[in-house]
Amino acid sequence: MRKPIIAGNWKMHKTIAEAVTLASEIREAVSGIDTVEVVLCPPFTALAAVEDMITDTKIGLGAQNMHWEEQGAFTGEVSPLMLKGWCEYVILGHSERREYFAETDEGVNKKAKAALAHHINPIICVGENLDQNENGETDEFVGGQVRAAFAGLSAEESQRIVVAYEPIWAIGTGKSASAAQAGSIIGLSVRGPIAAMFGEETAQKVRIQYGGSVKENNIAEYMAQPDIDGALVGGASLKAGFVELVKNAV
Ligand code: PGA
Repeated sequence: MRKPIIAGNWKMHKTIAEAVTLASEIREAVSGIDTVEVVLCPPFTALAAVEDMITDTKIGLGAQNMHWEEQGAFTGEVSPLMLKGWCEYVILGHSERREYFAETDEGVNKKAKAALAHHINPIICVGENLDQNENGETDEFVGGQVRAAFAGLSAEESQRIVVAYEPIWAIGTGKSASAAQAGSIIGLSVRGPIAAMFGEETAQKVRIQYGGSVKENNIAEYMAQPDIDGALVGGASLKAGFVELVKNAV
């Protein structure tokens, strides 16, 4: 059975002091929960401080991006070697990175391979924009992103990937995809292509999250969908209310 995973993507929010405060509130409140995996993804500057707060808990730590090279002249970038050993996860190919920082499917694939090689589990984001959604292009576009991200991986490696299906029109807009809509796109356009590449058995082991305006009052509906294995949460992960969201996911 796939263990659900709820990850908080803090994006470019929280100073180190603010991050410590939030992590300590979350730590206390979710300490007894073990049927859902909880992961915090603070900005790079707060990773070490948050890691200190969650050591000895089951809460996981994730970065929000990573370069594929181990080191080199890449000003402003962070490498897998720098994250390895303490970040269990790294978010790759978030739509904001694709849109504002020109990340490509090819780059996401290179990053996924580098992360896996360094024992960091990628959380790979895919999702269509509003035009694509309204023009009936969701399956082709999301399926293409999935195939590109998983290209060249072994079945074993692919099982370590978490996919976050995040329709761009639902991110930070308060406009979420309905649970049934998200569940069916995830089955058809995310798990489907993984099954075509690696076989049904492997596809059934890959965890797939929904993301886009997930809140404490709608998480349960998503969790009730058989193909949805948790959520990637932005805005609602920045407040202590995230604890309620996690509790409502159990
Ligand atoms: P949101 O963001 O929950 O604020 O919509 C989700 C995400 O971008 O991962």
